[in-house]
Amino acid sequence: MTISIIGAGAIGSAIARQLARNGIAASIANSRGPQSLKALTDELGTHITAVTVQEAAQADLVFLAVNWPRVSTALKDLGPWNGRILVDANNAVQVPSYQPVDLGGLTSSEAVAQWAPGARVVKAFNHLMAAALSADPQVDGGRRVLFLSGPDADAKQTVGELITRLGYAPVDLGGTEQGRLVQFPGGPLTLLNLVKLG
Ligand SMILES: NC(=O)c1ccc[n+]([C@@H]2O[C@H](COP(=O)([O-])OP(=O)(O)OC[C@H]3O[C@@H](n4cnc5c(N)ncnc54)[C@H](OP(=O)(O)O)[C@@H]3O)[C@@H](O)[C@H]2O)c1
Repeated sequence: MTISIIGAGAIGSAIARQLARNGIAASIANSRGPQSLKALTDELGTHITAVTVQEAAQADLVFLAVNWPRVSTALKDLGPWNGRILVDANNAVQVPSYQPVDLGGLTSSEAVAQWAPGARVVKAFNHLMAAALSADPQVDGGRRVLFLSGPDADAKQTVGELITRLGYAPVDLGGTEQGRLVQFPGGPLTLLNLVKLG
């Protein structure tokens, strides 16, 4: 399975750091091109490769971690997705006010799914601050919890297995609607830094 990350800021680089820490190869892209990511890829070593957004979008599993006002542009013309997995690590907030974006009743993942038709969207990696996501997931003899949700059970299983390989404890919240539980701001599970013992 090939893995990529679109967005190389606080969250994208945190995900890249966890993949690199576990020796899992991935590519990463931002809006400015691979050469702008040299410092990050030099830091993370050979497992993480800087590519263009178009190249990153070809992976079997694509993390999306882009500031919300730019998500629709980032996804434009990246298809066809053909059932490949898109992990929505985003929160639908304005930047820098952190006010919620009016999605007309949609969840953020439903909006992402509309902009990436054919992708199997899984919401995950969005409920913690970047510093907590970057930290060692093994805590106090347990594993830091990452939530996931979405309509496709197979896609969630794949993402859950990757979460486990990274050292976290995956907790499946259910379908798209349950993604609201981790939607920032307001979702009751947002920013809960939980550790699963045992
Ligand atoms: N920061 C947190 O603690 C946190 C926590 C949970 C969830 N989130 C969510 O995660 C997402 C990313 O947040 P962040 O804090 O990582 O943002 P960030 O540090 O501002 O980084 C955003 C990244 O998106 C890239 N980007 C922007 N437009 C793009 C495009 N058209 N194509 C490709 N890449 C593009 C940027 O690339 P360039 O720099 O080249 O423009 C940058 O690498 C947001 O939706 C946010 O709400 C953030």
